[in-house]
Amino acid sequence: MQSASVDVKLLYQTVEPEELRESVCVVIDILRATTSIVHALGHGAKIVCPCETIDQTDLKLKNYSHEQVLRGGERKGVTIDGFDLDNSPWSYTTKQIAQKVILFTTTNGTQAIAKCLLANHVFIGAFANFSAIANCVAQVEGPIHLVCAGTDGKLSLEDILFAGVLVNELKMKNPDLNIAQDDETTIALALADSVEPIETDRLEIFKISRGGQNLLELGMLRDLERAAMLDLYDIVPVWNPRTGEISVKS
Ligand code: MLT
Repeated sequence: MQSASVDVKLLYQTVEPEELRESVCVVIDILRATTSIVHALGHGAKIVCPCETIDQTDLKLKNYSHEQVLRGGERKGVTIDGFDLDNSPWSYTTKQIAQKVILFTTTNGTQAIAKCLLANHVFIGAFANFSAIANCVAQVEGPIHLVCAGTDGKLSLEDILFAGVLVNELKMKNPDLNIAQDDETTIALALADSVEPIETDRLEIFKISRGGQNLLELGMLRDLERAAMLDLYDIVPVWNPRTGEISVKS
């Protein structure tokens, strides 16, 4: 049997769906889409439906009664006109979203998820569910790709840091894991190895990152703080490309 392998895709726009066929993908948008999806499902949302466009959320809205569904996400970091929720992890509280279907669209994160439609497994990763993701991915067969969303078509440090930390964790769990010797994976590992694995040091990286700077300009420091917290939820969100739904892996 071929031994397991892992690589990092620093930016989803540089990846063709075909490259991800029959693989295991972890989609990473720490600030903030994947962090918020983890919060939504961690607080009891029924499902999250990632949509690439606002129009797609309009179409899907028609499938649900008013009580069943909420729309969440952002454009330019703020709530979309007519939507119920923004893209802050703090907004996805049990009171707001328990048992609801969340139609969710963001500038980068939901596009990165869509890129993985040919993969066998698509997991949603954040520091908020780090250990759950690492444990799950370590047990699934197939080449592993860590797909970073970045920010507006450019690299963003928080996603790369997560990817590097996850590669190290997977290697610890499986010493036979083949780590790609390519530039993208090497960059992610170099960043991970240069940052202490503690919340305050992650936060410092977030503050200087492209995604973090955008949010700081909008006064959203507390979103960075929340995204830096480790293992808030013991759940693995998994996207099913056929149904278009993200639910908690049982
Ligand atoms: C995105 O998906 O583009 C990001 O989550 C942007 C944001 O932080 O709102």
